[in-house]
Amino acid sequence: MSATMKQLHKQSSVNHRTRDEEIPGTLQSTPPYSPKALKHPRSLSRSLHYLFREQRLLFVLVGILIGSTFFILQPSLSRLGPSDHQPRASFSISSDLFDSSSSNPVTTTAQPHHRPVTRVPVQIGQRRKRIVVTGGGGFVGSHLVDKLIARGDDVIVIDNFFTGRKDNLVHHFGNPRFELIRHDVVDPILLEVDQIYHLACPASPVHYKYNPIKTIKTNVMGTLNMLGLAKRIGARFLLTSTSEVYGDPLQHPQKETYWGNVNPIGVRSCYDEGKRTAETLAMDYHRGAGVEVRIARIFNTYGPRMGLDDGRVVSNFVAQAIRKQPLTVYGDGKQTRSFQYVSDLVDGLYALMEGEHVGPFNLGNPGEFTMLELAEVVKETIDSSATIEFKPNTADDPHKRKPDISRAKELLNWEPKITLREGLPRMVSDFRNRILNEDEGKGL
Ligand SMILES: NC(=O)c1ccc[n+]([C@@H]2O[C@H](COP(=O)([O-])OP(=O)(O)OC[C@H]3O[C@@H](n4cnc5c(N)ncnc54)[C@H](O)[C@@H]3O)[C@@H](O)[C@H]2O)c1
Repeated sequence: MSATMKQLHKQSSVNHRTRDEEIPGTLQSTPPYSPKALKHPRSLSRSLHYLFREQRLLFVLVGILIGSTFFILQPSLSRLGPSDHQPRASFSISSDLFDSSSSNPVTTTAQPHHRPVTRVPVQIGQRRKRIVVTGGGGFVGSHLVDKLIARGDDVIVIDNFFTGRKDNLVHHFGNPRFELIRHDVVDPILLEVDQIYHLACPASPVHYKYNPIKTIKTNVMGTLNMLGLAKRIGARFLLTSTSEVYGDPLQHPQKETYWGNVNPIGVRSCYDEGKRTAETLAMDYHRGAGVEVRIARIFNTYGPRMGLDDGRVVSNFVAQAIRKQPLTVYGDGKQTRSFQYVSDLVDGLYALMEGEHVGPFNLGNPGEFTMLELAEVVKETIDSSATIEFKPNTADDPHKRKPDISRAKELLNWEPKITLREGLPRMVSDFRNRILNEDEGKGL
């Protein structure tokens, strides 16, 4: 055995080429190498000799250096995972959400995680939020985008421009913090953002009845896709639901605890039931997948950039009065609605997104007007000589609608500030410009 080792050692000290050629032959004729030989007192000097030859020591030292560097840096690298490199607070669903008593989770408070404070590189820690606004080319969405951009965030708008207009956003083109993606939310999309405001959906009866199947697909598949995205990237998700979830309400004013009176097979169901399903999906993703969701139930809102001919009552009356046409009142005109100015709604959506309550929250102005009273205010504001024309009412038109906003007042510290008589003139100048300049349909 020792003779064999000696032979091997001798061979290894000659040049490499010789060793490669000779060892196989040698091994064929001798027993295999045994580690026991290393215990021989002379093995230490042999090992050192082996180590110092052919710069092996240098390689060992470099290996140790690389290994130590990795183990020193590894803990701080692991803290910079994709969900951590943002300033937003991290929340988990409070345990009481899973209680049987929370089967009607009207408002659920999310609790912040108490994370150990970690060192985050300065530029990453101070990074502004990246926010997606689906339907950002529409009436409400474009005003929301204005607020978010003004706050200093990066905003990505996703819109298929079914009812929205690029004109509503043109003032942000060229701003590096603004991006516009023409995309239909019925198809999935992958983006890295901190928050998702999900507004994409035709909102006026004229538009949502135009293609009811597409409307319900937008509500169900579009919301599923956006919730899936929120889950995947750990983003907070806000759904713009509607007072239509209360249907033709049997409770007045409507509180969030009211479950509604909705016709599931009517011509408006694609919208009403679509939004109810969207709320269900949001709550299931919240309870089941831990997604931070926020739900707003929006009541009638008006303001600049509404569609001129979208069939909503305020825009109808204002456009008709400016065009010197009779104001169309459906039914007897005694059905009531409440009207909130768009900046109040945007403030409410923002407060909801930034707050710690899931909702749902009614966001609307509790001031209640009959259609005839509204027509009178429009006449006062635009043209006192305008006339009124009565037409038969549409199917499933709710008789009364007025939000109870006490929950939003208490938990979001929010309430509308702008009265109808203050808000209407602001909208009128925008409508007058668009109608007089006949720029509708000629937009970008
Ligand atoms: N304005 C109101 O009074 C009111 C009341 C209740 C609820 N809401 C809700 O608020 C949201 C915004 O309403 P709005 O008044 O601004 O309506 P809008 O029609 O002006 O805006 C909706 C936007 O969504 C876009 N959109 C529609 N389907 C889409 C799709 N499949 N993929 C991508 N984009 C799509 C449209 O092009 C449009 O830009 C809607 O979800 C609506 O249901 C509004």
